[in-house]
Amino acid sequence: MGAYKVRVSQPVQPAISAATRLCAVFGSPIKHSASPAMHNAAFAALGLDWRYVAFEVDPKHLRAAIAGAQAMRFAGINLTVPHKLLAVEMVDELDASARTWGAVNTIRFGESGTTGFNTDADAIITSLREDLKIEVPGARVLLLGAGGAGRTAALRLAAENAAELFLVNRTQGKAEDVARDIRSQFPSVKVSTAYPKDGVELVLNATSLGLKFDDPSPLDERQFSLKAARAVYDMVYRPAETRLLLAARYSGCRTANGLGMLLRQGAKAFEIWTGQPAPLDVMRRALKANIYGPAKL
Ligand code: ATR
Repeated sequence: MGAYKVRVSQPVQPAISAATRLCAVFGSPIKHSASPAMHNAAFAALGLDWRYVAFEVDPKHLRAAIAGAQAMRFAGINLTVPHKLLAVEMVDELDASARTWGAVNTIRFGESGTTGFNTDADAIITSLREDLKIEVPGARVLLLGAGGAGRTAALRLAAENAAELFLVNRTQGKAEDVARDIRSQFPSVKVSTAYPKDGVELVLNATSLGLKFDDPSPLDERQFSLKAARAVYDMVYRPAETRLLLAARYSGCRTANGLGMLLRQGAKAFEIWTGQPAPLDVMRRALKANIYGPAKL
């Protein structure tokens, strides 16, 4: 072996310069976001002189932060907890996706102003299909959570012709608000705000429970047994196996965490900003390395 090692597997990004384009994610908390790893790997793979960074932004500064990014000619930003609903009022125009799902997780800065998109909603359906082999049309789904993520998931599942939705949330009133919207927009979908009495195809966790290691499961197993579920999807992706997913695996359910959803919403945002097809495999590998560690690739 010579003294020099040449690494050919990692594409080298152009050095940061005055020409480098910037994207970012704004959230609070943001420290554990895997989005920078995913997007920077994608920029590098396509040889783009672009970078993606993460900023801790308090909701009271969100409007100023968006205006600042626009003034500094960022290409685009992502928004995560707790900004997705607030941002609807802070963009010049809403793409149909953001209008339909009532939340903005992606902003594009263009010559004519700011456009808000929602790339989360479709990512849920794609990830359920590809990572869990769940077809939503005709399915009975127990959905845990009626915050921003839960609301988008409920509406998107209804739009996809789920047969019946059971919406369970700590704050019952929020689940009832979502149920009311579904009854008026999607009258053919049965919806209730209690645990199901019979089996379901899918249990979907859209609460934030599971993110912290001592969080209880979002599912009350005295009210619903995982033995009555075919599959369980947890939008939480860190830790990779939450208390809910572990229990589901022991009960014989198919399981998936939220990595696939993060990947697909990110891929769509990448295409909106760059106009180029997202390198999905590169992005998936970067996410897995970031979340599971390089050894698990
Ligand atoms: P997101 O955009 O991720 O959905 P959110 O709108 O703050 O964030 O919603 C968080 C979800 O997790 C809500 O469903 C919340 O329940 P409440 O509506 O009752 O607040 C749920 N959640 C958070 N902490 C919880 C806890 N300790 N127990 C039960 N549910 C919890």
